[in-house]
Amino acid sequence: MNQVLENIITRKSVRSFTDKTIEDDILEQIIKAGIHAPSGMNKQSFRFTIVRNKDKMSRLAKEIATELERDVNTYNFYLPDVLIMVSDETENSNGLADCACALENIFLAAHSLGVGSVWINQLKLICDKPKIRAILDEFEIPASHTVWGMAALGYPKENATVTKERKAVIHYVE
Ligand SMILES: Cc1cc2nc3c(=O)[nH]c(=O)nc-3n(C[C@H](O)[C@H](O)[C@H](O)COP(=O)(O)O)c2cc1C
Repeated sequence: MNQVLENIITRKSVRSFTDKTIEDDILEQIIKAGIHAPSGMNKQSFRFTIVRNKDKMSRLAKEIATELERDVNTYNFYLPDVLIMVSDETENSNGLADCACALENIFLAAHSLGVGSVWINQLKLICDKPKIRAILDEFEIPASHTVWGMAALGYPKENATVTKERKAVIHYVE
């Protein structure tokens, strides 16, 4: 199997990270993979907001947890080293699809560089709640944007195994 296919097949979500900082050049390669994702009509209207400040990350997590009535003590994006918030124009009918392509590129690039990742999904429906939007404003995410997904990134704490259950969803029409 070639390396690209092997990287795709062995990627899995990581939800437990070490304290090790992701080196700037590694992070830059991961972000570059994101911005090279395809986008509908080549709009490239997605935006990547990188959060490394742990206080700001924690404040965002607490506000999301409060808004969604989740446990503020345990909802923490799995304490990643870096959070990449991927947003796009709310009015762009391809926004979610474009951001999903970018996120998958981010996950695959991260995996190829030994960095673990997982999609964090809770923000997309609550971006316009006043307390959440206030934080997004502070992060300079445009008011016209929805954060469709986020990537939590860090070095994996546990050795990721490659065994993954996959359902039989393929059907060839003869
Ligand atoms: C649209 C989407 C939303 C997801 N949201 C979350 C999430 O909020 N928290 C989480 O821990 N994992 C989330 N995941 C990760 C999935 O749970 C994971 O991809 C799935 O269980 C398959 O495991 P794998 O990524 O290891 O192949 C999400 C994945 C996708 C594609």
